[in-house]
Amino acid sequence: RAVIFSGIQPTGVPHLGNYLGAMQQWKRMQDEAAPDTKLIFSVVDLHAITVPRPRGLLSQWKREMFTALLAIGLDPDRCVLFYQSSVPAHSELQWILSCTASTGYLSRMTQWKSKMSLADDVTAFDDKVKRSLKHGLFSYPILQAADVLVHRATHVPVGDDQKQHLEFARECVTNFNSAYGGQHLVKPETIFSPAKRVMSLTKPSAKMSKSDADARSRILFTDSASAIRAKVMAAVTDSTNAVSYDAAARPGVANLLELLSHFDPAGRGAGELAASADLAGAPLKELKTRVADAVNAALAPIRDRFAELLARPDYLAGLVEQGAVRANQSAEETMKIVREAVELGA
Ligand code: TYM
Repeated sequence: RAVIFSGIQPTGVPHLGNYLGAMQQWKRMQDEAAPDTKLIFSVVDLHAITVPRPRGLLSQWKREMFTALLAIGLDPDRCVLFYQSSVPAHSELQWILSCTASTGYLSRMTQWKSKMSLADDVTAFDDKVKRSLKHGLFSYPILQAADVLVHRATHVPVGDDQKQHLEFARECVTNFNSAYGGQHLVKPETIFSPAKRVMSLTKPSAKMSKSDADARSRILFTDSASAIRAKVMAAVTDSTNAVSYDAAARPGVANLLELLSHFDPAGRGAGELAASADLAGAPLKELKTRVADAVNAALAPIRDRFAELLARPDYLAGLVEQGAVRANQSAEETMKIVREAVELGA
């Protein structure tokens, strides 16, 4: 039986990268899954506390992200939707996995290394930097592995930046199963959407991200049609005012073409669109207008539903409670096996 699991941090309102790279795929998988496929999506609030954040906002951000899952069309009767912290088994399994996980592997993870901003030069690791780095950030991938493994996920749909974390989760399975002699945990497969790396509108060489200080670099679910248009029109391109596709030489234009391709009803790729009769050589403004229209058409119904749902706190609270019960049940099945394997069972 297939089990689809994925998670998203409660960073408030999701951006277009989250949507195209992950959430849209979750909805597609829900719609196409066999009836016996289990679908589980989590707002990973324990991951959110690995880095400093403004005080007083986390519960709002959680609510917004939970609402976003519903707004994109995930059906709470078909999917288990829950807050990670409402299922203590995630933390319990994290600890158990940490006892067979390799610190060497963890210290090679690119997210950790980039947070240390020292690439491969470990000798440059100065003491002040070290003190500011918290252990939770270091062991972040173990918690992520626990998220996936505790629900016996077989498929994990994510964007490209999660690739290494999922490889690590498979490594955790190998380590655990060999330490405790048996096929106790299941290795998950990573599933990428065609939009596995959506780029920033202002820095086309960087991925679109919540943490970019420049709000014009990303499009949010809550952006109005005019805000979307303004951001796309201001997107960084280059000085050649004619559409062509060259990802290396023209990353800004390529990014817009990629975006357009993700919304193309005919499923054409970026290069194909650039060569199409109505876009080849056209002024960049034409391309930008098409992108803004396509993004807005896709986001408008989500934006409306998002606002509607946020105005129904009691309905949301009920779903949060229902999700917690079901996710706890799902996790307990695995924890029985794990506790027995580790000899922690009663
Ligand atoms: P997070 O919250 O940063 O992002 C959620 C999902 O959105 C994808 N994504 C992107 N995809 C394409 N282009 C982009 N610019 C872009 N930005 C974000 C991410 O790849 C991700 O799929 N560690 C995870 C959360 C997590 C998780 C899990 C995921 C915790 N436990 C278990 C899967 C399974 C994270 O921080 O994603």
